[in-house]
Amino acid sequence: MAGAYPFLTPPALEVGTYVGTDALTGEPFSFDPWALYAAGIVTNPNMVLAGVIGQGKSALAKSLAVRSIAAGRRVYVPGDPKGEWAPVADAVGGVVVRLGPGLPARINPLDSTGTNPAVAHGDRLRLLTSLAETTLGRGLRPAEHSALDAALTTAETGTRGALPTIPAVVDALLAPDPGLSMRDGATASARAADGGDLIHGLRRLIRGDLAGMFDGPSTQHLDPGAPMVVLDLSRLGASDDALTLAMTCASAWLETAATESTPEAGPRWIIYDEAWRVLRSAPLVRRMQAQWKLSRAYGTANLLILHRLSDLDAVGATGSEARALAQGLLADCSTRVIYRQEPDQLTATATALGLTSTERSLLTALPRGTGLWKLPGRSHVVHHRLHPDEADVFDTDTAMRTNPTTGHPGEVQS
Ligand SMILES: Nc1ncnc2c1ncn2[C@@H]1O[C@H](COP(=O)(O)OP(=O)(O)OP(=O)(O)O)[C@@H](O)[C@H]1O
Ligand SMILES: [Mg+2]
Repeated sequence: MAGAYPFLTPPALEVGTYVGTDALTGEPFSFDPWALYAAGIVTNPNMVLAGVIGQGKSALAKSLAVRSIAAGRRVYVPGDPKGEWAPVADAVGGVVVRLGPGLPARINPLDSTGTNPAVAHGDRLRLLTSLAETTLGRGLRPAEHSALDAALTTAETGTRGALPTIPAVVDALLAPDPGLSMRDGATASARAADGGDLIHGLRRLIRGDLAGMFDGPSTQHLDPGAPMVVLDLSRLGASDDALTLAMTCASAWLETAATESTPEAGPRWIIYDEAWRVLRSAPLVRRMQAQWKLSRAYGTANLLILHRLSDLDAVGATGSEARALAQGLLADCSTRVIYRQEPDQLTATATALGLTSTERSLLTALPRGTGLWKLPGRSHVVHHRLHPDEADVFDTDTAMRTNPTTGHPGEVQS
């Protein structure tokens, strides 16, 4: 029976926050990655959620978030490109940081661990490398790497007690410290030449389209008691490149702010909604991969939201390092939830997840709010039940509804 009808056999999952009903048994379905990890059912707490537009992926993530908060978990959303998480954070008493050109909030991605200067230096250098690689669209040469390292050292020592900032690093790239250059066997002018491309790359964060957001001391301090922190990036515009840079800075800031203020923060969700938009960036995927690997040590569960699993292939050519990293992200997600898929995606999805033919044929027919939950050794088809109060806050359909009085799309007056 188990072989022929794999859906019918797994016992109901009853531990954790309530999600909805198991469509095949009618039993309630609950989910808690930490409890499942403790019970040995999953090998890591991370989760991937894929489905075509408008199927209720964000609604599911928001339910998991607010319901887990009731159980004492915390939720971080390191980048919300649509601005749809702010009402959720407001509803649970969380913090929303709105970043965008002309907005007052500013975060310094180089805010980092005060306790161990060497660790802080390493964290900052990795972040600056990712940023430069993203803007330059290539890996850094060894000479550029040393120039960046030296410039960061200068910025760290030159600010006398204050935290280094990106403009201070760029200044140090423009006028390299002769002593530090000599230590690496270079003259200051040779080093300035080495750092030429880096200056142009990082300049975008100071005078380019991202000016005023990451180029000074933080105006925001993370409240360690906040149940939810959302970085609203909806004012950033449509550029995926800008979103990637902003998300790299934002997640680095959130990581350090979170681990510093509350080292014993306990379990928390990190939710990457609309993650398909940033997966084309290999440096960001590399950072996410590192974050995933540490999830058990930090007690975090990452949730990656995509349209289709082939979004993970967009990061690079077949056989490239970036592609392998993105595939690694999927491998490091023990829980895979698949909402409705287009027919052309079935083969790829079925192969990536090892779906049975029954599961495979189900994927094109799933109604809104219903998904196939694949956990190691068990599958469930779950209908996510939305509470009316949640539905009000999570609604993303407003713009699609027609106003009966004007005939135009917009808020329904009733
Ligand atoms: N389980 C559900 N029951 C009833 N309504 C739902 C359910 N899930 C989602 N909805 C409604 O469907 C609409 C679209 O949902 P949502 O924004 O979560 O889709 P999405 O998959 O995230 O779409 P996108 O890919 O565009 O981000 C929302 O207005 C939401 O209220
Ligand atoms: Mg969504």
